[in-house]
Amino acid sequence: MNRRNWLRIAGLSGVSVAVAPSLIGSSSSDSSINEMVDAGIIRLSSNENPYGPSDKVKKAITEGFDSLCRYPSSTYRALKEMIANRHGVQSSNVVLTAGSNEGLRATGLAFGINGGEIIAADPVYKALISYAEHVGAYIHRVSLTPNLDHNLAAMEQRITLATKLVFVCNPNNPTGSLLPAKDLQEFCRNVSDRTMVFSDEAYLDYVADPNYPSMVSLVKEGENVIVSRTFSKVYGLAGIRIGYLIARSDIASRIQKYVMAAPNILAVAAAKEAMEDEEFYKFSLDKANEAKEMIYSTLEERSLRYVPSNTNFVFFRTGKPIQEIQKAYMEKSIRVGRAFSPLLDWCRVSTGTIEEVGQFCNATRSIF
Ligand SMILES: Cc1ncc(COP(=O)(O)O)c(C=O)c1O
Repeated sequence: MNRRNWLRIAGLSGVSVAVAPSLIGSSSSDSSINEMVDAGIIRLSSNENPYGPSDKVKKAITEGFDSLCRYPSSTYRALKEMIANRHGVQSSNVVLTAGSNEGLRATGLAFGINGGEIIAADPVYKALISYAEHVGAYIHRVSLTPNLDHNLAAMEQRITLATKLVFVCNPNNPTGSLLPAKDLQEFCRNVSDRTMVFSDEAYLDYVADPNYPSMVSLVKEGENVIVSRTFSKVYGLAGIRIGYLIARSDIASRIQKYVMAAPNILAVAAAKEAMEDEEFYKFSLDKANEAKEMIYSTLEERSLRYVPSNTNFVFFRTGKPIQEIQKAYMEKSIRVGRAFSPLLDWCRVSTGTIEEVGQFCNATRSIF
């Protein structure tokens, strides 16, 4: 969509869209953002990491061009081994997918195709449950607690003989909240005797406590637990589509049969390099933390309630319908997150670059 069309659709024709000079071409890491600045929109809606990919990863991708005439399957083994070593599992426990969404959908298909029930929090990231619902599963949606955490006790109570899988997103999207590790481990141990537990860990890299465990620890104990991870967030690789699942090898092979979108050869090269690039990983976390502090202090200034975030986004209560809030930010050329029913007077904002978040904070001061 060109700029004029966008302005027309957004109802902003005639309104000049301010673009911060500091955002234009200031460094190589800002180059990917220029496209969005050119389009007049600051995208704080999809929990991307606009600092990525790192220069080292860009080089690895460029070097991969010469291999584009080859099928990628021969490159999977090395990446699977790297992932397996990182998590202390075997390669046979790893399923590579084109983005973790594909792993979520393949699991939704594998466990939902013959009907049955799936239990999930509400609101939660929907890729697995929507797909499962589409192929015939019934979804039990369990409201979050008043503190906006998963209600694990209520989820456990819903389990019946028809339950095929319980979906947990930790940290959760859209709230950014994190379950106490012991509660989740205990839940997984109890529940996985009766059904499969899926732990979506797309944002686990952002958790500040270095000792907070991945539920991969339960996969290693042989439990009925599946974990998903992604290169889209802290590694800044959302556009290339690569992620993975970790599960017991019999479960991994079962899901592998349903995977349709396998990673391409450039995605594999990018992921391998990204896993080695500790400097960029740390840089991304530091920037997300800096951005979150800016957002928190602006929300506090305006007495707006928010959930302390363990992710690269912040969920805050506006007290107004989200459509109104989206429009108000869009008038300032900022796109915030979509509606998350039933929390329709809350808004999710992603951490963009520091400059973009600065503009979000200024917009927030003027809207509220
Ligand atoms: C909780 C959660 N899981 C999975 C994904 C999917 O990410 P990707 O398919 O890019 O790996 C997202 C994307 O925003 C997410 O928020």
